[in-house]
Amino acid sequence: MAKKAAFTMERFDKFPQFETQRLILRKMTLSDLDFYFHHFNDQKIVEGTCFPGPKTLDAAEKELERYCINPFKENKGIRWGIVLKDAGELIGTLGFYDWDKDVHKVEIGYDLKPSHWGLGIMTEALQAVICFCFEAMGLNRIQAIIPVENHRSMNLVRRLGFTKEGVLRQNSLFNGVYRDDACFSLLIEEWKEIVS
Ligand SMILES: CC(C)(COP(=O)(O)OP(=O)(O)OC[C@H]1O[C@@H](n2cnc3c(N)ncnc32)[C@H](O)[C@@H]1OP(=O)(O)O)[C@@H](O)C(=O)NCCC(=O)NCCS
Repeated sequence: MAKKAAFTMERFDKFPQFETQRLILRKMTLSDLDFYFHHFNDQKIVEGTCFPGPKTLDAAEKELERYCINPFKENKGIRWGIVLKDAGELIGTLGFYDWDKDVHKVEIGYDLKPSHWGLGIMTEALQAVICFCFEAMGLNRIQAIIPVENHRSMNLVRRLGFTKEGVLRQNSLFNGVYRDDACFSLLIEEWKEIVS
């Protein structure tokens, strides 16, 4: 049985920004609207996330506020923009949501421009976020719910040390079809083993 973390964060004081070897993870703003609209209408992103892209710029603005800007304000989660340090280009997003302050757990989400797949960029970005979740926030569990067809995403979380717990049958509805999702998780005790 795992022990309760000694320290758990309740609120964010300010938006955390990270720098990794190749990336900056930064706050997203309404000036990212154009990127958001095109990125989430990219067919490969739509297929991977099983989430239809916003149909109009107005809808994209509402989503950007809802998923990227407001979760931080409402203390429910954080979604960073992933920027290539050298080029200064925004190439994706990642973050966590459904922050459960009683059970010390979150669920993660991520998406990268297809032109930048296969380079280890999301692995690098998620390592920084996972480290923040366990070390700064004192979380105990990070969960990822992944459509069973999304092998890239499942490979990614496996590479980071996540364990597949099982399949949530017909857990989501996309294009009029019920889809199975795999549930993966990483616990703080497993992550400590990985980084030790
Ligand atoms: C999920 C997603 C982010 C994975 O992208 P990815 O490029 O496979 O992941 P990474 O950036 O970590 O790159 C890993 C790849 O880079 C390679 N790589 C190169 N250098 C690496 C390094 N330093 N570290 C890790 N991997 C490295 C790996 O071998 C792997 O290559 P492979 O594709 O041949 O197996 C991407 O497919 C995506 O955005 N999909 C659409 C949205 C989506 O599905 N979101 C998740 C919904 S559940």
